[in-house]
Amino acid sequence: MPEEFFETLSNHATPPVYRFFNGKEWVESASGKTVEIHSPIDDSVVGALQVVTIVEIDAVMTSAKTGQAKWEATPLNQRVKIMHLAADWIRHFEEYLSTLLAKEIGKSMGEAKSEIVRTADLIDYYADEVQSMRGETLDSDNFPGYDKGRIGLIERVAWGTVLAIAPFNYPVNLTASKLAPALLMGNAVVFKPPTQGGISALHLAQAFLKAGVPEGALTCVTGTGSDIGDYLVSHPGIDCITFTGNSDTGEAIAKKAGMKTLVFECGGNNPALVLPDADMNLTAREIIKGAFSYAGQRCTAIKYVLGMPDTLASLQTVIMKQMPELVHMGDPRSPETKLVGPVVSIAAAEHIQSLIGETVKAGAKIITGGRRTNAFVEPTILSDVRPEMPAVREEVFGPVVSFITVKDIGEAVGIINASRFGLQASVFTQDEGAGIVVAKQLNVGTVQINGSPQRGPDHFPFLGVKRSGLGVQGVHYSLEEMSRLRPIVINKPR
Ligand code: G3H
Repeated sequence: MPEEFFETLSNHATPPVYRFFNGKEWVESASGKTVEIHSPIDDSVVGALQVVTIVEIDAVMTSAKTGQAKWEATPLNQRVKIMHLAADWIRHFEEYLSTLLAKEIGKSMGEAKSEIVRTADLIDYYADEVQSMRGETLDSDNFPGYDKGRIGLIERVAWGTVLAIAPFNYPVNLTASKLAPALLMGNAVVFKPPTQGGISALHLAQAFLKAGVPEGALTCVTGTGSDIGDYLVSHPGIDCITFTGNSDTGEAIAKKAGMKTLVFECGGNNPALVLPDADMNLTAREIIKGAFSYAGQRCTAIKYVLGMPDTLASLQTVIMKQMPELVHMGDPRSPETKLVGPVVSIAAAEHIQSLIGETVKAGAKIITGGRRTNAFVEPTILSDVRPEMPAVREEVFGPVVSFITVKDIGEAVGIINASRFGLQASVFTQDEGAGIVVAKQLNVGTVQINGSPQRGPDHFPFLGVKRSGLGVQGVHYSLEEMSRLRPIVINKPR
């Protein structure tokens, strides 16, 4: 029963106040300060998170330090079993967790369910993959001037304590994508859930704890970034920070963190470049999906489309034909809703609307959409946009896509490479060879040929350049990032 499994998480008041996990038990903070979480669908209160105190954070750090040593000494096969069990629990509560997710962050039931299933699959994959991690030995005589007198034994060990900070848009999946590799590699994790999405994220943490993650190895501290963020990221008890969120926050964390290892997934602001020979039906479908799924609130969403005038004109016609079938804005829990529910909050919706307004003021035209009711922003297509306009210069975290006309491919490549962001880009063409030629000129993490940007499949490397990220994620790569090399050199002087 979910009620029993998740019982300790909150005090069951109306609205329920969710506890934090100090390494041993779910407890109430001495701060008495809470943040209410409102559903973006109807503004109803889902619950409240506590703002933990600095004293409580210090205690959590101590618990993590002690817990980490024991956890790292736990045989890997036992850590693997615990992860598989956590994945089983998540599958078991698929319906319950999806319903909570839909209510808390406004994701459609279909998208919420796929997040839950993907999370369980991801944890299982991590647990399988970690068993193939290998060390190596190196001989010294490969390097000029050295004889065989030294042997290097190179193994992978935990960083120590990892601070995991997850975003609102995938509070379950992007929490698991941080917790599982960090824990499997023997780290303790101090988990800071997002504020919106935090309730769902704490439920995910409970699956790890119930599966058997022992005392101190996992702790959960809640509160807004402005209350506890600086203290956490600069805390000397933290060895590594794994963060997903917007680029401004990423930059602020990097400045405050000091000499800690940083693994960041930040904003994308991803372009789609359409070559004249592209299959228009496929391109239109991928752009609609890429721009509007989860109301455009994915770091991998398509934010602008580049093409020559004739190409963009025909693309626009096909997109407008396909829109009624593929997109329907509404309550994300209704089966009629397709791709576009509310954005995360009314404040976010207002910001998106102001960026649309400023872009139109600067000379862009609205092809469709542009209006807003509470947290619901209509799926919006803008044309006649230039790269310096707000809708392209900023990452609009909502259902908005801008069309930019270029005179040739060279100009498009120049615009993409001049962007402050560099997560992914799409190139649409029926000539895969030509697509590869263009792909090699783009300074972004990943180029998708004939597909919209996306993180999955989750064992592929996922990385951003410039303001889009630090380090590489994706199952094997995340396991590597959540550990460091420890060379032990045996010297045999002759
Ligand atoms: O929002 C950032 C996520 O990593 C995007 O993941 O491409 O699977 O939607 P996704």
